[in-house]
Amino acid sequence: MEISRASLVLALFGLCVFAASANDGRKTYIVYMGELPRYTAGVALMDIHHTLLTHAIGDERIARESKIHSYGKSINAFAARLLPHEASRLSERRGVISVFPSTVRKLHTTRSWDFLGLPEKVKRNHNAESNLIVGLLDTGIWPSSPSFQDSGYGPPPNKWKGKCEKIANFTGCNNKLIGAKYINLDNAASPTDDLSPVDTQGHGTHTSSTAAGATVKGASLYGFAKGTARGGVPSARIAMYKVCWGIGCSDADLLAGFDEAIADGVDIISVSIGGFAKNYFEDVIAIGAFHAMKKGILTSCSAGNSGPYLSTVENVAPWIFTVAASSLDRQFKTTVKLGNGKHATGRSINTFSLKKQMYPLTSGLLAGSSNASTYGYPSECDWGTLLANKVMGKIVYCVGLIGGQDYTVKDLGGVGTIMSTDSSDSDAAFTFLNPATVVSREDGTMIDKYINSTRAARAIIYKSRVTKTAAPLIASFSSRGPQTISINILKPDIAAPGLSILAAYTELSSITGDPMDKRISKFNIISGTSMACPHVSGAAAYVKSFHPEWSPAAIKSALMTTATRIKIKGKDAELGSGAGQIHPRKALDPGLVYDLSEESYIKFLCKEGYNSSTIGLLTGDKKAYDCSKYRPPAQGIDGLNYPSMHIQLPKCSTSISAVFRRTVTNVGDPKSIYKATVKAPKGLNISVVPNTLSFHRLNQRRSFKVVLEGGFLHHDDWLLSAALEWRDGSKHTVRSPIVVYKALNERLQ
Ligand SMILES: *[C@@H]1O[C@H](CO)[C@@H](O)[C@H](O)[C@H]1NC(C)=O
Ligand SMILES: *[C@@H]1O[C@H](CO)[C@@H](O)[C@H](O)[C@H]1NC(C)=O
Ligand SMILES: *[C@@H]1O[C@H](CO)[C@@H](O)[C@H](O)[C@H]1NC(C)=O
Ligand SMILES: *[C@@H]1O[C@H](CO)[C@@H](O)[C@H](O)[C@H]1NC(C)=O
Ligand SMILES: *[C@@H]1O[C@H](CO)[C@@H](O)[C@H](O)[C@H]1NC(C)=O
Repeated sequence: MEISRASLVLALFGLCVFAASANDGRKTYIVYMGELPRYTAGVALMDIHHTLLTHAIGDERIARESKIHSYGKSINAFAARLLPHEASRLSERRGVISVFPSTVRKLHTTRSWDFLGLPEKVKRNHNAESNLIVGLLDTGIWPSSPSFQDSGYGPPPNKWKGKCEKIANFTGCNNKLIGAKYINLDNAASPTDDLSPVDTQGHGTHTSSTAAGATVKGASLYGFAKGTARGGVPSARIAMYKVCWGIGCSDADLLAGFDEAIADGVDIISVSIGGFAKNYFEDVIAIGAFHAMKKGILTSCSAGNSGPYLSTVENVAPWIFTVAASSLDRQFKTTVKLGNGKHATGRSINTFSLKKQMYPLTSGLLAGSSNASTYGYPSECDWGTLLANKVMGKIVYCVGLIGGQDYTVKDLGGVGTIMSTDSSDSDAAFTFLNPATVVSREDGTMIDKYINSTRAARAIIYKSRVTKTAAPLIASFSSRGPQTISINILKPDIAAPGLSILAAYTELSSITGDPMDKRISKFNIISGTSMACPHVSGAAAYVKSFHPEWSPAAIKSALMTTATRIKIKGKDAELGSGAGQIHPRKALDPGLVYDLSEESYIKFLCKEGYNSSTIGLLTGDKKAYDCSKYRPPAQGIDGLNYPSMHIQLPKCSTSISAVFRRTVTNVGDPKSIYKATVKAPKGLNISVVPNTLSFHRLNQRRSFKVVLEGGFLHHDDWLLSAALEWRDGSKHTVRSPIVVYKALNERLQ
């Protein structure tokens, strides 16, 4: 069945769903061992892995056959096919941090950069920018796209150590797209996949061009969103690590993507892939991003497409930049006109122009077959429930938006599809296989009544129009906090455009991903936090081009404290948007930054209760790490110098009492005085001690604490949004959201 076609699966992003299985009962596991040993060469590392495996399996030959891969360029780990008892035996060995099954994860414009205040002619540090390399872990890349042409680009930066695999249908790299590898350790590729870095899905081409695509004039999807397409850092270079195949992205491949990208010398890593929240060291994205952080590389990840429900945010490790999706100020509206003269305007990206004035109109209910119930609901136009002779040549009205309805109607010779659902301005607009629009429930009922009222119902669906709308909002599909792993770290961190984004696409797939669809386009418009993430990767590279010496945490802080607060619709507030929408130009001059070193994260892990022998392996010190000196209250409630402040309280709590400890570093004017301004709702007292910070030189640090006291005034309140702003009285405002969340159920005790 064709239900979950790409056009409806938001940019193919989701959760990990199943583990790779095999007929001999062995499954692929990842054995994670932390930092590379300092004194052993690569060959010796493979011997260490082999010895461990032989011990666990008890047979040298089987051990040899079971080993899939030794990671060892940046990360000490290996992948092997194991039985459960072998995996548990391995997890008890010294030197092993974690052993976990490799799961398969799903993948979760022109105008977007102008909208973010980064117009084409913005000041740029071209030389530094052209030395930056953005690495993406994704579905591959379409090298022939105009977004990756290299006229005017010099040779790759000297630091680049990566390769380009010119193989199968991948035609090779150039001075813009400097690296491309594919990784298929776990046999995730299916026979229809191309064993090369070429992108047959479109997702990786889209994310790459959003982050760092070259400037392309006159880009559009069938005339929509027409303008100049470009990435956040058009002069930077791109390196693609294809780790996602038709079925998804295997953990074993993802970890290899990080292992390679870090060793190759990329500056930023962009990962628009699901990262179901779990223990950091059993999560390859958290592990990979941790090792990247150690080498000064910032990893930005999509927050997930499971909103608007609370506690759905993914990729939550504090060293990851977690990105929510916001809306642009444009919307795609598609109007349907009925034979009785009435109109309804819905949401879709309809590239088709119908030729006739009017077409016969019917509903799924009226076109249903008598035995339909064995297949589903004809009213919803479920696959197999409609009769071809009642659909042929007609526009069909279907209740709901379930995915695949356009396919069902088109397959039976229908002309167009009208769907109805509850929707808001922050919903995604989809591309369908035939002329289609998604109207509100009320308009759906109005259309259904009209169909019932006459024997000759007629309608026409017009090509979409692009209209202006208030923005930014947080996309309804964007995953929300509060997070479930480190409960006092606010996630998502930040928001960037992810709704109806135009960017480059592969010509090996139609714009809906359906082979029935003949529309191939150099650019496509899709939605998802997958599209938001590369905006932040590009923005981070832009900041780095001016401040090459800044740590990943400093870049992240600069983007967070200068973000534009998103006007809140609904009550989830910062749990949807984090610090707000990125404003890259402001982030060049944040005044102060909340910096973090590797050591800061280590202390944080101590506080979070990670075993000190584990931490020793992460740092590369063979001996157990002494966590005893890092206990609260010395660290404050969250134990991390984070640019936002967040606490989660149990449902029964009646009062709030928390202390956050922070240190800011002066990156603005050498001599400056900052004063604290607090914005807090009634009932929440926030004091900042001291509330004035004087600096005499650059890079000087000043510490302060933020004390929260008070309570929820009303029984059914569950979220308090406040903020701390440090202002120097002239140009700098350094804003941190402060968010207090009270659990809605008993989960937190
Ligand atoms: C790769 O190229 C071959 C030969 O041109 C073609 O038959 C095949 O369909 C291509 N594969 C993909 C995935 O496009
Ligand atoms: C359902 O009805 C259609 C036409 O009325 C027929 O072609 C089809 O075989 C039937 N399916 C089943 C399972 O009875
Ligand atoms: C249209 O008619 C069907 C029965 O044929 C009925 O179930 C449905 O509710 C009617 N729709 C409206 C909007 O009245
Ligand atoms: C850490 O965990 C391992 C295995 O669970 C255990 O053997 C070791 O004693 C622990 N170390 C500390 C310092 O708690
Ligand atoms: C908040 O501060 C005010 C003024 O200092 C004080 O009267 C009040 O008791 C404080 N409330 C709490 C809950 O601490």
